[in-house]
Amino acid sequence: MKVAVIGQGYVGLTISAFAGQHFEVVGFDNNQKIVDRLNSGVSHIEGVESAVIQQLIKASRYRATSEGRELGNVDLVVIAVPTPLTPDRKPDLAYIDAACKTIGENISRPVLVINESTSFPGTLRSYIKPAIEKYSKEKIEHLYAISPERVDPGRGDFNQKNTPRLFAGLTPEASEKTRDFYSKFCHELVEVSSPEVAEAAKLFENTFRQVNIALVNEFAQIAHSLGISVYETLDAANTKPYGFMKFTPSAGVGGHCIPVDPTYLAAVAEEHGAPATFIRRANEVNLEMSKYVADRIQVENGGTLEGKSVLVVGVAYKPNVADVRETAAEPVIEHLRARGAVVSWHDEVVGTWKGATSSPLAGAEISVVVTKHDSVKEADVIASAPYVFDTTGKIKGVHGL
Ligand SMILES: NC(=O)c1ccc[n+]([C@@H]2O[C@H](COP(=O)([O-])OP(=O)(O)OC[C@H]3O[C@@H](n4cnc5c(N)ncnc54)[C@H](O)[C@@H]3O)[C@@H](O)[C@H]2O)c1
Repeated sequence: MKVAVIGQGYVGLTISAFAGQHFEVVGFDNNQKIVDRLNSGVSHIEGVESAVIQQLIKASRYRATSEGRELGNVDLVVIAVPTPLTPDRKPDLAYIDAACKTIGENISRPVLVINESTSFPGTLRSYIKPAIEKYSKEKIEHLYAISPERVDPGRGDFNQKNTPRLFAGLTPEASEKTRDFYSKFCHELVEVSSPEVAEAAKLFENTFRQVNIALVNEFAQIAHSLGISVYETLDAANTKPYGFMKFTPSAGVGGHCIPVDPTYLAAVAEEHGAPATFIRRANEVNLEMSKYVADRIQVENGGTLEGKSVLVVGVAYKPNVADVRETAAEPVIEHLRARGAVVSWHDEVVGTWKGATSSPLAGAEISVVVTKHDSVKEADVIASAPYVFDTTGKIKGVHGL
């Protein structure tokens, strides 16, 4: 069986690497640089080793392409393209639409189309299927299914094999073929009764995290105003063996999922006349954390940051990855600069960001830890400035939330 995976980013390359162990995979991406790097055996994604790509290329089980016509003879297509927000924070299905166009224009025999991109309930049935039919020259009866991706890039304990995978087809035949495909490399498959349930479950998983993060971020502010340690209080609450799950405060949430997916859920809820006030407010609380952090640092530094050198440590959105999408470091830096601080940043995992390179972890008046990679030594952070504010709670004996 030949498989095409549209989008060779975090999700698409990861699935290609697993599928490539069992099928012949064509990785389609419209970014030529990514295609060239992959074909030269270099992975750009944490968790996908270059050696795996090289081994698949050698065994003729993988190649990357930006040519739509190379999809002409595949049996199964996985869609793994971005689903961001528009500038006015509405679901942006433009990438999904482009993927549908690629499928419609290049595949002229029935295949199984599986969407792994995160989107609102109804996307497969009411958007992807009609879009592919619109772009196809003739009427082709493709099979359609959804299997929302749950990969957590950079994570060692859970991967494609041992993370249960939700799926549902638009028809029983689509469900059956989807099960056959994933069962080759995933140990636990969970079929739900409709694509809409699978789509909604994925959004709810991330919304659950978003609102709990917002709750603990709000609680961090309450604890500080009460003069108690948020971390000690959370550890104390966490001794309850049931009915509690510990989340930790931060400078905000980043990445492609938590700041984005709940807005997909809120948008579709509001379209159907259902309130999503809780989800909307959680998003605001998380966005406001960067200002709260800058305010705290200003207050604790004599009320002004004018002309002070501030080093932001860790600009990736989470530890041990180079991904800076929606990183909380960005609004933190903006708030510090708005207060007159001279801001630089240190992150050797990210290396280059917005045309600048990582500064040394030393010589600042104030250091603010937004993300702590494992490779960053606690002692080096402490020595980097006379005042250190740690938003992660990982560095002992310094200022923090
Ligand atoms: N990154 C995660 O941790 C994660 C986890 C679960 C689900 N998801 C979801 O998976 C989807 C993909 O996310 P990602 O993190 O892999 O994104 P990504 O930005 O890492 O990769 C997307 C890739 O798609 C390519 N692309 C864009 N438009 C294209 C098109 N029309 N044709 C071909 N290629 C195209 C881009 O060049 C890029 O390489 C999103 O819906 C996301 O919400 C992501």
